[in-house]
Amino acid sequence: MQDSIRVGIAGLGTVGSGVAKILLSNAHLINSRCNRKIELTAVSSRSKSKQRGFPLKKIHWEENLINLARRDDIDIFVELIGGEGNPAKEAIEVALNHGKHVVTANKALLAKHGHQLAKLAESKGLSLKFEAAVAGGIPAIKTLNESLAGNKINRLMGVMNGTCNYILTRMENANLSYEKVFKQAKDLGYVEADPTLDVGGIDAGHKLAILSSIAFGTEIDFDSVYLQGIESITIQDIYQAKELGYRIKLLGVSQKTDNGLEQRMQPCLVPANSAIGQLENAMNMVIYEGDNSGPITLSGAGAGEGPTASSVLSDIIDLARDNKVPTFGKPVTELVKAIPTSRPAPGAYYVRTKLKDSPGVLAKMATALGDHGISIDRMRQTQHEDVAAPVVIVTHKTLPETLSNALTAVAKTGVILEDPVVIRIEDIQ
Ligand SMILES: NC(=O)c1ccc[n+]([C@@H]2O[C@H](COP(=O)([O-])OP(=O)(O)OC[C@H]3O[C@@H](n4cnc5c(N)ncnc54)[C@H](OP(=O)(O)O)[C@@H]3O)[C@@H](O)[C@H]2O)c1
Repeated sequence: MQDSIRVGIAGLGTVGSGVAKILLSNAHLINSRCNRKIELTAVSSRSKSKQRGFPLKKIHWEENLINLARRDDIDIFVELIGGEGNPAKEAIEVALNHGKHVVTANKALLAKHGHQLAKLAESKGLSLKFEAAVAGGIPAIKTLNESLAGNKINRLMGVMNGTCNYILTRMENANLSYEKVFKQAKDLGYVEADPTLDVGGIDAGHKLAILSSIAFGTEIDFDSVYLQGIESITIQDIYQAKELGYRIKLLGVSQKTDNGLEQRMQPCLVPANSAIGQLENAMNMVIYEGDNSGPITLSGAGAGEGPTASSVLSDIIDLARDNKVPTFGKPVTELVKAIPTSRPAPGAYYVRTKLKDSPGVLAKMATALGDHGISIDRMRQTQHEDVAAPVVIVTHKTLPETLSNALTAVAKTGVILEDPVVIRIEDIQ
């Protein structure tokens, strides 16, 4: 056996304690798989007296995580405190400057500072690893960075926030409003302290930006991810989508277009019988479309102690095995700046609105759309409400700005009684 490799964990919350527990309970199995002993030598967290579910007696305790990051008796610094800035960022920098490899699950920090931290790590011949930062227990990074390294990625997609998927599936299955299900999700502890991180699509956007960098060889560019949350999705839209054979998901899509890199995280209609359409509750799914591999679909738990700690362990085990892979798939100095697309690829759209209930209004709407080159795939008129006629339209592929201009033109004809709800329909198998 080689010399042991020594680990220090900063943050003993859900994930940090989970990692420590696996390191202790599966020690024999893991050590034999690495042909090397992995030792948990030191930890740091805010409260020393909290019960963590594993014995702390034989492990050094550091009051300050910066001191942990520079200890001589650790080779790998595992950052599991979270937060997009300091002290997590400073601790990682200190660890790298003291010759330690770093493992983190912190997508917010990576989306903001990942490029700079990878530069520092690679300039020192060290690794910065983050399997747990995207889609919890799913090996989303390893699959892209290693298994699919021989492929050009044409498109990547995914449902990457379990809370949003839980809310959307529960709304449909229990016939409840967004507000009611949001409250239930909060009571169950599924929602971050700042809910906009989840329901506003920010957390999932961070993950999409990280995957895009690896897939397309570009510097992480979270700022150009088009973000739209699920707060305005109504039970009505969920049911209309169902009637049309779709389900609504908070879907991330990233692809290279002729105009540049397109990254969007937004509610989309997807075919109900597709793998993503069938994804229930808090599960996550990632799909990579490689030019040689074809579509590769991965699904699993996107969060939680066991799944997330399992991914952290896979990074620690890689380091113990000396399996070195560049942080974002190629040396960080070779990543190019992302050029964000000025216009997303054309797509079909779902439009729901209320029209005046009088003769000729549907024709007026169809004409205004047609004048903008938008053809209608399907149109449904639902139950009349007094003077209003609710309609749902599915368009053929068009650009979002063209649709927006067309709907403005329809509004000018005076037939629209309610602002249209517009949701993209994503072309997936
Ligand atoms: N939970 C998940 O399912 C999941 C999934 C994927 C990724 N992640 C990521 O994993 C990371 C950790 O998440 P978590 O859910 O484990 O968080 P958590 O349960 O809130 O744990 C955070 C831990 O950090 C410690 N901490 C906070 N500030 C500290 C400081 N200044 N110095 C030392 N320790 C400090 C806390 O200490 P005390 O306990 O002593 O108060 C706590 O143990 C985050 O980046 C998160 O985004 C989590």
